[in-house]
Amino acid sequence: MVASLPDAVRSLVADRAELHRLARAQGALRHVAMLVARGISPPEAFRAIAAELGTLVRADCTAINRYEADQSATVVAHWSDPGSPDVITRLSGRWPIGSDTAAAAVRRTGAPKRRSSEHISGEIGQWARSYGIGHIVSCPVWVEARLWGEVAVMFRGDSPPPHRTEERLNDFVELVACTIAQAKSRADLIDSRTRVIAASDATRRRIERDLHDGVQQHLTSINYDVRAAVSAVPPDQAELKRQLSSTAEDLSVVLSELQEIARGLHPAVLSKSGLDAALKMLARRSPVPVDLQASLSGPLPEQVEVTIYYIVCEALTNVLKHAHASKVHVDLSRADGQIRLSVSDDGLGGAAVGHGSGLMGLNDRVDALEGTMRLMSPAGEGTSLQITIPVKAHA
Ligand SMILES: Nc1ncnc2c1ncn2[C@@H]1O[C@H](COP(=O)(O)OP(=O)(O)OP(=O)(O)O)[C@@H](O)[C@H]1O
Ligand SMILES: [Mg+2]
Repeated sequence: MVASLPDAVRSLVADRAELHRLARAQGALRHVAMLVARGISPPEAFRAIAAELGTLVRADCTAINRYEADQSATVVAHWSDPGSPDVITRLSGRWPIGSDTAAAAVRRTGAPKRRSSEHISGEIGQWARSYGIGHIVSCPVWVEARLWGEVAVMFRGDSPPPHRTEERLNDFVELVACTIAQAKSRADLIDSRTRVIAASDATRRRIERDLHDGVQQHLTSINYDVRAAVSAVPPDQAELKRQLSSTAEDLSVVLSELQEIARGLHPAVLSKSGLDAALKMLARRSPVPVDLQASLSGPLPEQVEVTIYYIVCEALTNVLKHAHASKVHVDLSRADGQIRLSVSDDGLGGAAVGHGSGLMGLNDRVDALEGTMRLMSPAGEGTSLQITIPVKAHA
């Protein structure tokens, strides 16, 4: 049967509107996907998703809710149409999902659900009706096979939202799941890196102690015995005396080499005398003059102290090896829950992370403490390493 002209026009107009809608949906998705891929923080990503989604399905407000262990959910992001009153903020934080809300149905079934507010009892039903919200559509967010929460879109007025609303939410729900999974893998990665570094620091500390208390003490006492033997050799045994003296000298060299190795393994001075003294010692030992300004109030967690020590140690070694500098400034301070450390020289510049293992190792250590590391090293203008490490107030 041939369609009449008005029908054909109507169908063309509908197709056009559908194409237009699809293009808008793709644009919104691309925008949020790009933000997520760039690694913006989960709260920012959720806010962007809530806003794009609300605009796309013409909702009056949207909320991304995380299910808690009890029968409640926490609003992690919300959006309200600029033309409608902001109703979600009133609901801020945690709210009871009850038994007949869309959220409760989604939690029970793991599938998308819609509810008209007149069928929702209790606090949530009252809240929805008092703001004129007629319908709520909710879709489950699954993260790694676990029902994490829901994305809910709310519509004011009596007419129910189009039947394809749930389908349109789907792609955005995927983005919410991706954002959570991404944040979780980053947190897991940081945790495992922290564990690896802590374990390796502990092993180094143990080896340093074993060397110090065991091998070093043993060698020192042998050295003492050999020197005693040297003085006991009769005068007519000159050759034996020479040999024993030479052995004693060799033993002294081995001992100082061993001390050097132990020092490289773990900065014993840190545990013995504290960070301040350890940094002063590094500055004193540096052949390039160091201007050290350290103002820390109170102790720091051990891993932070060890990290600061290694950063200064590696940065000063780099200055000596690569910079041809005439001076170095080391500044260490603590403010607003952050440690700020900078090491700057007036040398050749041109440093880059990844050309050796030193700076890369520092980057890993700083990352493990959720800090930031910036390296500025324009050729001919010296090198500046700027680090921030968050520390808790009570630490
Ligand atoms: N203060 C500096 N001034 C000039 N160049 C630097 C400075 N620090 C580092 N560099 C350059 O950056 C590169 C990377 O430094 P990094 O500490 O990672 O490696 P490395 O010192 O060469 O080797 P490693 O630290 O593994 O013994 C160095 O090879 C050097 O060319
Ligand atoms: Mg180096």
